[in-house]
Amino acid sequence: MSFIVAIDGPSGTGKGTITKLIAKEMNLLNIDTGSMYRSLALKCLKLGINTLENKEKIIEIAKNINIEIKHNEENQEVFLDGENVTSKIRTKEVTAFSSPVSSIPEVREIMVDLQRKMAENKNVIMEGRDITTVVFPNANVKIYLDASVEERAKRRFEENMEKGINMSYEETLKAMEKRDYEDSHRKVAPLKIAEDAVVVDTTSMTIEEVKEKVKELIKVQNGNSQNCEK
Ligand code: DC
Repeated sequence: MSFIVAIDGPSGTGKGTITKLIAKEMNLLNIDTGSMYRSLALKCLKLGINTLENKEKIIEIAKNINIEIKHNEENQEVFLDGENVTSKIRTKEVTAFSSPVSSIPEVREIMVDLQRKMAENKNVIMEGRDITTVVFPNANVKIYLDASVEERAKRRFEENMEKGINMSYEETLKAMEKRDYEDSHRKVAPLKIAEDAVVVDTTSMTIEEVKEKVKELIKVQNGNSQNCEK
């Protein structure tokens, strides 16, 4: 049996930061599914593929890709075919191409399969775009994190500055709006709010406040499921 906390939402809502913190505090395995689509995008770019013209080739790469998410005390590290690509998957080129590759239905099937396997018999907190709707529609806890696009772009801009990624606020906002549109308008598994997900609007909340809110939702649900088992 596993206990699954599923979190979806657009980029810049703090999903990554929140899940990392909660995983540590509540002893859950943290799985950032965006890093898997990013790893595939990175591999394609390395092989000179930067458009969806040759979808068959991208699907072939996805079928044979080896993505591992390893956890240490502090962080989640991502390995692509044995190489630690934790930082390399955060460049603007990889970020931009991760959305198109994630729109290919066959790619999604492969990734969803992998994600379900990663969670087998574990207590996990998994974040992405389709976790509450497709990967784990029966998750114990389902949360949709949201925020205005301006606030999300501001957060991403500040994060990028800290990481030394050189992108203006305007460029960040434009890239985010483009990705929001692509992620929520694709044919397969678009980003949307699951009917039974709890929506948390983080626009005017601090990371600490969002974390506490999400923890509270998990605790309530955890209590309920333990009661059910009795
Ligand atoms: O969360 P992120 O920014 O790291 O995600 C990178 C891209 O991957 C994003 O544009 C949408 C896609 N993605 C997805 O389609 N489904 C997921 N479960 C996670 C991410």
